[in-house]
Amino acid sequence: MSVTSILSGNKENNQSKSGSEWWRSAVIYQIYPRSFADANGDGMGDLKGITERLPYLARLGVDAIWLSPFYKSPQADAGYDVADYRQVDPLFGTLDDFDAMLDKAHASGLRVLVDLVPNHSSDEHEWFKAALASPEGSPERERYMFRDGKGENGELPPNNWQSVFGGDAWTRPEGQKQWYLHIFDTKQPDFNWQNPEVRAEFESVLRFWLDRGVDGFRVDVAHGLVKEEGLPDFDEEYQQSMVEGGNQGPMWDQDGVHDIYRDWRKVLNEYDGDRMMVAEAWVKPQERLALYIRSDEMQQAFNFDYLLAHWDAAEVRHLIDESLAQTALAKAPTTWVMSNHDSVRHTSRFGLSNPGDRPNGIGRDSEQPDEALGLQRARAFAFVTFFLPGAAYIYQGEELGLPEHTTMEDKYRQDPTFWRTKGEEIGRDGCRVPLPWKADAPAFGFGPSDQTWLPQPQAFARYAVDVEEADSDSTLALYRKVLEVRAEHHLGQGELEWLDAPAEDTLLARNGDVYMMVNFGESAVKLPWDDAKVLAASHAQSSDSELDGNTGIWFQRG
Ligand code: GLC
Repeated sequence: MSVTSILSGNKENNQSKSGSEWWRSAVIYQIYPRSFADANGDGMGDLKGITERLPYLARLGVDAIWLSPFYKSPQADAGYDVADYRQVDPLFGTLDDFDAMLDKAHASGLRVLVDLVPNHSSDEHEWFKAALASPEGSPERERYMFRDGKGENGELPPNNWQSVFGGDAWTRPEGQKQWYLHIFDTKQPDFNWQNPEVRAEFESVLRFWLDRGVDGFRVDVAHGLVKEEGLPDFDEEYQQSMVEGGNQGPMWDQDGVHDIYRDWRKVLNEYDGDRMMVAEAWVKPQERLALYIRSDEMQQAFNFDYLLAHWDAAEVRHLIDESLAQTALAKAPTTWVMSNHDSVRHTSRFGLSNPGDRPNGIGRDSEQPDEALGLQRARAFAFVTFFLPGAAYIYQGEELGLPEHTTMEDKYRQDPTFWRTKGEEIGRDGCRVPLPWKADAPAFGFGPSDQTWLPQPQAFARYAVDVEEADSDSTLALYRKVLEVRAEHHLGQGELEWLDAPAEDTLLARNGDVYMMVNFGESAVKLPWDDAKVLAASHAQSSDSELDGNTGIWFQRG
């Protein structure tokens, strides 16, 4: 058996053993507050619901949680339209509830990251209301991106940019001459990041939450804050999607964004406790992404290439190599992420006829995934993800093997993508459905009532936490086990060595004293050695000497 390559891109990770730079190897659990747990029975998750369920997360074995937005917001984009960056929306509770949650999380050994949404505010933010009420060229307007329109009477948008959610990226408010830019929904006006006042405001927002004790920030649309000088038209042959387009276009990945993150890093460095930032930057290629994690910028960037991977051993291996090589150059950790609140859950993506395809939502008329096969592969894929050196993310419900809601009736949909494209794009509601905690309770135990802001599919009964806690073969039991082995063997701080796999569709690697073998093919593959002592397996295997198709194991030798 020959070692084909040693990826030591995470030497720096060893530091995290001593407790510093915890983020280099952390497992971070994404909480989508609207759908995690509802304490007051109004059908919407809340901060008290999170506090009540912290023991569940501590038991799961994660190091930190990241909360999607819970700030004051009209909820036009599920809270990614912030009306007040320093207030909790009454839907989710109060600042006191936040402080109580934070204290209890810290007492349970969990660090807490919050979402920061700096590209745009809500149109109901005081600043935007003041901008609309102020004359052209006023300081109030300079905080946003107002421009005159084209055409004889300025009746055409200032340029041809399209919104990520569909339709024009410009709106001309009733009775106004000027248009304002919104890369997302009409209700999400983009800030003008050339304006020092905007920069000062966000540094103050950072301090507000750092002073309360948060451990860091997930930075929304981190590649979008600065736009190309002059706002030139955009070659329409590219789709202006964040995901497919990556850094293509005058609204994405401009070099100027890095000055902002250098300033923010200085702010974070004033605080103790190794506070961190992670960039949501849909940027290609990996070399460009690595710029966000230079030593004086953010600590992490989401590895979306990995999230978009197909169920294909060669593709996955290639992505891993590329990610580790790039992040090693930046001396930063890689992040391994399979699902989030913007993507079809990977359990369902892996059950499609082209496993791993990433449709923008799955609707009743779309191809329906094979639920059992998707789950089987998702469980096996966890054996790749949590084996790798670096940090890993879990999207709530992933630890239950929860599938996407693929048959939701359109009338329930809330994602602006669906409504702005007139249903052409299904959108993201299917991955945002409230979690099932108890199979036999109303709303599957999401809260004390039968209310849920999005309907849950019947299938969720099989995935409820109480059902999975009682089943030693459940996905929850598997995640607990995998995270335990990962921690015990320091896999997050380790080094990856690829070994010659016994079959083309199979990955075989070593990290310290643990071996990983994952079979992406359909037929069983012989294990390379007969002295394998299995530490964890995605499924009970049909034979001791073979690895079944679509399954994975970790083992030691001798
Ligand atoms: C990010 C968020 C997404 C949101 C968008 C606009 O991509 O993850 O949910 O719609 O930004 O804020």
